[in-house]
Amino acid sequence: MSGAKQALKIALLGCGTVGTQVARLLSEQADDLEKRAGARLELGGIAVRRPGHDRPGIDPALLTTDAEALVTRPDIDIVVEVIGGIEPARSLILSAMKAGKPVVTANKALLAENGEEIHGAAAENQADLYYEASVAGAIPLLRPLRESLAGDTVHRVLGIVNGTTNFILDQMDTSGAGFAESLEEAQALGYAEPDPTADVEGFDAAAKACILARLAFHTEVTASDVHREGVTEITAADIVSARKLGRTVKLLAICERFPSGVSVRVHPAMIPRSHPLASVGGAYNAVFVEAESAGQLMFYGAGAGGTPTASAMLGDIVAVARNRMSGARGFEPSNYAGLPVLPMGDTLTRYHVSLDVDDRPGVLAPVAEGFARHGVSIQQVRQASRGNAAELVIVTHEATDAALAATISELQALPIVRAVASVMRVEGEGDPS
Ligand code: NDP
Ligand code: HSE
Repeated sequence: MSGAKQALKIALLGCGTVGTQVARLLSEQADDLEKRAGARLELGGIAVRRPGHDRPGIDPALLTTDAEALVTRPDIDIVVEVIGGIEPARSLILSAMKAGKPVVTANKALLAENGEEIHGAAAENQADLYYEASVAGAIPLLRPLRESLAGDTVHRVLGIVNGTTNFILDQMDTSGAGFAESLEEAQALGYAEPDPTADVEGFDAAAKACILARLAFHTEVTASDVHREGVTEITAADIVSARKLGRTVKLLAICERFPSGVSVRVHPAMIPRSHPLASVGGAYNAVFVEAESAGQLMFYGAGAGGTPTASAMLGDIVAVARNRMSGARGFEPSNYAGLPVLPMGDTLTRYHVSLDVDDRPGVLAPVAEGFARHGVSIQQVRQASRGNAAELVIVTHEATDAALAATISELQALPIVRAVASVMRVEGEGDPS
């Protein structure tokens, strides 16, 4: 095929929020894309569930419900998957690769759950596999990790990779609203799905963390390796408490390299209001990467939406078309490093602990002893009296999750502690403002 000017036919699997925009851009930018890719890119067919559904701008003659037949059609050169979920996306991608066809996908859930199998099939069949849109929508992030930083050692990836939860937390921070009210607002504006579980429980961010960790650390990481906590337990009081200490609350995906292995986790955390991630508002995404030689890098932009996500997919489509035209194949990321994924209990971080305590002499000493007994060092203390009770906020130095959990159990048993109101991790303290 090398050098020949001809059309490459694309099978589009799915024509929803993202697929519709991929189809539109392929058609509207056909002439420019032809020049950039070295071949005309033509839609050869579109697989959907409901062929009779009204789809303005889409040629009905392209629609089919037989996705399997479409991906294996001999005239199809590139398969673009935007159905989402595990099946039938997994089987369709495997069929396409078995037929030697390059695949472009935005499917983070599949890549997190079955990444090893999908990457294995790509390698075995010498098929390209590109998935820039799967993490942080339009933001070019995976290609920098996969290619630009291939000569460096990544130490940490810290980011806001879920727009829905960032919108909710931003609302809570700016308006003082509670979680339920802010979620309703996110749903009314179309950011959150009617069933918001994947976003608010952290599943979406955990899948993205899995993909980021795999690329950053050249290590196999699957969805079950990622420690995941969502934002449903965050209260307006947590946000106020963070504010009083000059911090704000964000749902972070954190991939970190330690001497003993890597930690991959998603959880809410307090970060300094001066941290670059603190000013990321609304449904935007931003990711902070720290590498040995490059130092600190920051990526920011639209993490979702049909058109921004389609932009990332078009970039991948042009890349695989260029490879196809030159007879080459893109580099398949390896997992050669095989670093152990650490259990959450071994992960080192800092904590913000809010306690409701009696306000009388001798309260601080047993609380401080509880921390000391488990080797957790206190960095900051703030107390606010409320009659005969007080809110006691303690921020720790770095400690393991296991040591903090043991400390909390001990504090809960102290008669002077009426309740452990909240425990939240603190991140990003040493980062540039
Ligand atoms: P939508 O639900 O809007 O679209 C899904 C499409 O898949 C629909 O066209 C649907 O057909 C089609 N479909 C569903 N089941 C089948 C099936 N069995 N066979 C053939 N077609 C089927 O999803 P999105 O466009 O929002 O998301 C697509 C992918 O992109 C997902 O992996 C998602 O995680 C990812 N992504 C989405 C982003 C976004 O902002 N939406 C951002 C980044 C990534 P029909 O139209 O007939 O119902
Ligand atoms: N639901 C995701 C978000 C968008 O809110 O960021 C798709 O990745």
